[in-house]
Amino acid sequence: MVHLASHADFKALLRCEGAEGHFAYVAPPFNFNAPGVAKYPPEVTGHFLLNSLCRRIGWNSLSGRRLLDFGCGVRFARAIVNLAINIDLYAGIDANREAISWLQSEIRDPRFRFEHLDMLNLKYQANGSSSVDEGALERLALADFDAACMFSVITHQRPKDSGLIFSMLYRCVKRGGGLYFTAHIDETVHDYVERDPSQPCRLSIYHPDFLIDLVRKSGWVVERTYLPSPFQQAAFVCRKPPID
Ligand SMILES: C[S@@+](CC[C@H](N)C(=O)[O-])C[C@H]1O[C@@H](n2cnc3c(N)ncnc32)[C@H](O)[C@@H]1O
Repeated sequence: MVHLASHADFKALLRCEGAEGHFAYVAPPFNFNAPGVAKYPPEVTGHFLLNSLCRRIGWNSLSGRRLLDFGCGVRFARAIVNLAINIDLYAGIDANREAISWLQSEIRDPRFRFEHLDMLNLKYQANGSSSVDEGALERLALADFDAACMFSVITHQRPKDSGLIFSMLYRCVKRGGGLYFTAHIDETVHDYVERDPSQPCRLSIYHPDFLIDLVRKSGWVVERTYLPSPFQQAAFVCRKPPID
């Protein structure tokens, strides 16, 4: 026989401990991911890729970490908020002013920071500025990050912009910190090509050795590389040397 607690039992057992944690949910009205990725909920691919980043860079989790995400789009912020992922600071930088404004106004949580960078990109920001310099992020007081990351961002950059981005990020990450990024590589191309020269930056393809040289010129040490895997292209794990 099922025993049902009486009303009197319920009252006697009742605890008034306040709200059960903080609930937050965001649904940014933007998508920057390819159709094969965007068919899954952003939280699913975002969580999967953040786990991959942690594992490959040598972290147990994002807990206690400061992560700088260049070309952030909206997916990782969405995943961190909606899945209540622990993180010390997530700073997202993007050339898309509308997306950054949306994130700034909708995510009012001190663990998040979003900054717009007006930088020319022939696919994403054709009217952007071509005079961004290596200190642009540092001047926004973006400093002391445990790591910087870029998912599908170098995939859409000309070499001179990739070099500039690697240098900008180098200045924002602490000594011994990491850089994780993905790129489209192909050992059969000479240095770098655009898959479709009539649509520059739609798909920028690099010879891996050429790309590694570019990364090294900015001071990073390339520690490991990975072949493409679900939801991400070839990946590079780099380290800022602990001492000069
Ligand atoms: C393919 S989307 C990837 C978005 C996000 N990283 C993700 O994986 O969901 C590329 C993003 O990089 C941004 N982007 C491209 N070039 C940029 C630049 N030079 N400066 C800042 N953001 C840039 C675009 O606006 C876009 O949001």
